[in-house]
Amino acid sequence: MRHLLGIDDLSREDIERFLERAHYYTEALFEGSWNKTLLSDRVILHLFFEHSTRTLTSFEIAAKRLGAEVVNWNPETSSLSKGENFIDTIDTLCAMRPDAIVMRHADYGAPKFVAGRAGCPIINGGDSWRAHPTQALLDALTLRQHFGKIEGLCVTLIGDIAHSRVATSNIELLRKMGAKLRIIAPAILMPEKRPEGVEAFNTLEEGLPHSDVVMTLRLQKERMDRALISSDGEYFREFGLTTSLLDRLAPKAMVMDPGPLVRGVQMEDEVAEDPRRSLILKQVANGIPTRMAVLDILMTGKAA
Ligand code: CP
Repeated sequence: MRHLLGIDDLSREDIERFLERAHYYTEALFEGSWNKTLLSDRVILHLFFEHSTRTLTSFEIAAKRLGAEVVNWNPETSSLSKGENFIDTIDTLCAMRPDAIVMRHADYGAPKFVAGRAGCPIINGGDSWRAHPTQALLDALTLRQHFGKIEGLCVTLIGDIAHSRVATSNIELLRKMGAKLRIIAPAILMPEKRPEGVEAFNTLEEGLPHSDVVMTLRLQKERMDRALISSDGEYFREFGLTTSLLDRLAPKAMVMDPGPLVRGVQMEDEVAEDPRRSLILKQVANGIPTRMAVLDILMTGKAA
């Protein structure tokens, strides 16, 4: 395994390997017992063409926990602003021979394109609506930690399925791992082609009952070519999670959200902060061991 571009490239065994290593790092971080110089002579280049809080920061912390140096390239202060094109920018940065590149880009397939030109592992930190593989891995780690399994869980994704790379990668991963999948969205935010084996609903009333997990997804307005929802308030009234709704329709369901969470749109504050229900900060925390596992496996090729 040289690059991590998408979940669709991974077998169930590959996913297990990442999850087992992420589990190892979860425990090792707790005990303080991991190899802190594993990547001590390596330089990792972060190429984030889109903004990020969780992915960028947790990759940086993961790299530093393993002893690597990190260079955070910034498109706004780069020579892109002087007219240099994308390909020349990539070739220029690859000529500096980083040991790995973590990349986020708005265009479909950009990390795969870079993987064809770079001489180092490329890790997709999110491209277009298509892929966010490390988010899907950390979500799977969170599910396995909480429920002890993924197989057979009923996982319901709510929101902007059509534009969400988290939805795409999570559906691919959870299906491979044997979860039962549902999507709930207004018709306009459903994907054009319904993912195979996924039940689709247009209301919370229909889709929420018997869910073990509900994962809300942000309205990806930056990927909409026009306003598809008349207002955030209207969306919240139809698709926002409230304590009273969950108590009535899915009282045992755990709540997840990959972030960024827009409070009062995806869910009310009480749901986000409910320690009995919310796994949101657990997801964030799991970004570190998951990304340590990804860097370890791709950069050393040794983790078994
Ligand atoms: N979940 C996620 O990708 O968040 P960021 O955009 O903050 O990285």
